[in-house]
Amino acid sequence: SLAVENVQLLASENFKNIPPRYVRPEFDSEEVLDDGSIEIPVIDMNKLGTGQLGYDEELQKLHLACKDWGFFQLINHGGMEIIEKMKAVTEQFFKLPLEEKMEWAQPPDDIEGYGHLFVFSEDQKLDWADVFFLYLLPVSQRKMRLWPEKPASFRSTLDEYSKEIHRISMSLFRLIEINLGVERGNLSRLFDQDCKQGIRLNYYPPCNHANKVIGLSPHSDAVGLTLLVQVNDIQGLQMKKNDKWLPIRPAPGAIIVNIGDMLEIMSNGEYSSIEHRAVVNYEIERISLATFQMPDLATMLGPLPELVNENQPKFVKMSIEEFLRLNLRNTLDGKRLLNEMKI
Ligand code: SIN
Ligand code: FE2
Repeated sequence: SLAVENVQLLASENFKNIPPRYVRPEFDSEEVLDDGSIEIPVIDMNKLGTGQLGYDEELQKLHLACKDWGFFQLINHGGMEIIEKMKAVTEQFFKLPLEEKMEWAQPPDDIEGYGHLFVFSEDQKLDWADVFFLYLLPVSQRKMRLWPEKPASFRSTLDEYSKEIHRISMSLFRLIEINLGVERGNLSRLFDQDCKQGIRLNYYPPCNHANKVIGLSPHSDAVGLTLLVQVNDIQGLQMKKNDKWLPIRPAPGAIIVNIGDMLEIMSNGEYSSIEHRAVVNYEIERISLATFQMPDLATMLGPLPELVNENQPKFVKMSIEEFLRLNLRNTLDGKRLLNEMKI
């Protein structure tokens, strides 16, 4: 991607007017459903162990969350100690002086490293955020030279976090395949040993014209499942609900989970990958950690055969690799790519 300014540095400058590349008047007029009247479903992992009281009910709740919402909050998922450690090293990393962070900057034409998302042209509008993207799995493909060594425990913490989030995601995939009526393993094994996992650390600096910028443009996630952890308690994530933007307020310790395009396709449209965006705070920075689970690149992406027996396939088939390549070529643009794959 093209070299663009560091937004954290930009935000520290005192200016009257936002640089024009960041001004996004189109988003200010969209309606936000901010009265607190509806909240995304809360799924309790404690109830989802086999034989637990309330298991059947919670499993059905998970099914409806995936189908009707595409988003839910997961509580009692375990791993709190490592999640807290990961939050701490992420905050410490972004606090480093810019020159130090630049040691792990995105190389030209790479999406991994410290930099920005989806920058293709000199005149493109930009999001008010810096990001750090890394592939975590498979382990053999980690680009260690792009893994921060400051703070000193960053690498080991990220390695543990990768395992923990993968463990939690596997529990979800096993429950999801039960809910979809797929034979055990036929969905979850695609996300098990040979899966691909990526992480994006998102840093949204405050902005004194927060209503004029966007932290992350509306998009749906290209992946299977996304597990999002908020590093601090600043609200910013919003999902599309009934053509309005619904702010998502996670309970303390909750992980926000959303269905990505690949799972919508595999479920033959039974589950929905929902558009979402991140807005910016006027006074306080916001930091989040999005971890993405997807199958190995060589896997053929398409509706699971067991789900098309009676129904027509709703999506064309292509490899995961091809799908990701097409996704990278699209600028963040709502659900355009998924819609192009519809039969
Ligand atoms: C994302 O869509 O991956 C990030 C959203 C957020 O920062 O809450
Ligand atoms: Fe996303």
